[in-house]
Amino acid sequence: MNTQVIDASNQLKFEDHPVQVEKNTQLPDLSNKRGVVLGIQGSGKSVIVKAIARSERYHFIYDVHHEHVGMNRYLVGNKRPESYKPNDPAIAELNRVVNQVVLDVGRVRMFILEEANRYCPSKRPLPSSILVLNDDQRHERVGFISVARRPTQLNSDLVELAHFLFIFRLPGKNDYIYLNEVAEGLGDAVRSLEQYHYVQVEPDRTYKIKPPVKLSDHQVGKPETMA
Ligand SMILES: Nc1ncnc2c1ncn2[C@@H]1O[C@H](COP(=O)(O)OP(=O)(O)OP(=O)(O)O)[C@@H](O)[C@H]1O
Ligand SMILES: [Mg+2]
Repeated sequence: MNTQVIDASNQLKFEDHPVQVEKNTQLPDLSNKRGVVLGIQGSGKSVIVKAIARSERYHFIYDVHHEHVGMNRYLVGNKRPESYKPNDPAIAELNRVVNQVVLDVGRVRMFILEEANRYCPSKRPLPSSILVLNDDQRHERVGFISVARRPTQLNSDLVELAHFLFIFRLPGKNDYIYLNEVAEGLGDAVRSLEQYHYVQVEPDRTYKIKPPVKLSDHQVGKPETMA
């Protein structure tokens, strides 16, 4: 069966509609690990997100663009925080979902935050629920993947504490400088990537270039027209 977890808008629960698990041998073991997926628009971030989610039956995607058809996901209502205070509607919605569905219930093993730069931008405090997810000591058994276009726009704690970085094409000058500080030559490696290829940065900050993630055609879902 191939269904999704849906927000009932007033009541949240993780419904167990089994998604067919397909281990992707190209991916590292991400159980209880943190990862960050980076890259410009259309570079392949959401495709690797699908592959990561497919590898873990109890995944849960914060689906900002309502694009992850058939996956366990939350269809986001407030898509753009206007401030980074807890009472901002978009921040409050994220905290509510993560607290209730990911942290309290204990079924979810992999949480994926799309558009993480909107919720966790550079130089702003992390939302309280994300602080918990980003800290080994404060939760158990949940992998956490954040997805953003540019590392310079993302809260640096997410990048610094990530076990793995998956970086697709990223030609910007500031990102190039930033990445070369993460690991020597990383900015250069990312600059020279071919379409849909990516650099995988390991926990020890060594890195290697990977070929495009393989997804069968039916898995490369098109965004829904109806939310
Ligand atoms: N590994 C791949 N193999 C084949 N096609 C791919 C691959 N990765 C991406 N594509 C193609 O590129 C399109 C855009 O990829 P994707 O949606 O992953 O981009 P993105 O980085 O998430 O962009 P955005 O920043 O807009 O969210 C996909 O719909 C697909 O057609
Ligand atoms: Mg995307």
